[in-house]
Amino acid sequence: MHPNGAEARILVYMILPFHILSLLVTLYFIVRSDLLAVQWVRGKSPMLDLDRLKRYHYAVAAGLIAMIITGVSMAIPAVNSGSIYTTSLAIKLSFVALLIVNSFVINKHLVIPSKKKFVELSNREKYILFASGAASTIGWLGALITAFFLEIE
Ligand code: HEM
Repeated sequence: MHPNGAEARILVYMILPFHILSLLVTLYFIVRSDLLAVQWVRGKSPMLDLDRLKRYHYAVAAGLIAMIITGVSMAIPAVNSGSIYTTSLAIKLSFVALLIVNSFVINKHLVIPSKKKFVELSNREKYILFASGAASTIGWLGALITAFFLEIE
């Protein structure tokens, strides 16, 4: 199928609301997770409940998968009809790739706050958590900002 630009735009109008809805639901769980993390780092909640950590982590991972499914469904016809900047799309997808890799890093370290207080961590453990948090911020903000540079006017 080789859609023209108008057909690709109609698809974007139909799918974009679901793309944005997935983003809002995902952001809600990201903010909840960050608030928990702040409580743990400040020692207000010395240890966190592992089931809760898992619930939030899987909710954000599911949200990222929903962003990818809805995003790819809009991007394929848009690329085929030449109505999207492929360089901007490639940059956006690099941020998304960073988020995918980071979700495995988070998964691996998820148990730490349920077993140790923040002050008990080694410098290496603190560094990994800090780097992963930074990667998450860069990935989500990068994907969000590049989204506004996709459409060819
Ligand atoms: C972390 C994940 C993502 C975030 C935060 C995100 C964010 C957004 C936002 C805010 C928009 C609306 C932009 C506007 O109103 O002009 C958008 C549009 C779009 N996104 Fe995503 N997105 C993500 C992942 C993806 C992925 C994986 C793809 C797949 C290739 C994708 C493809 C698109 C396309 C094609 C549009 C429509 C652009 C247009 O108006 O022509 N997105 N995205």
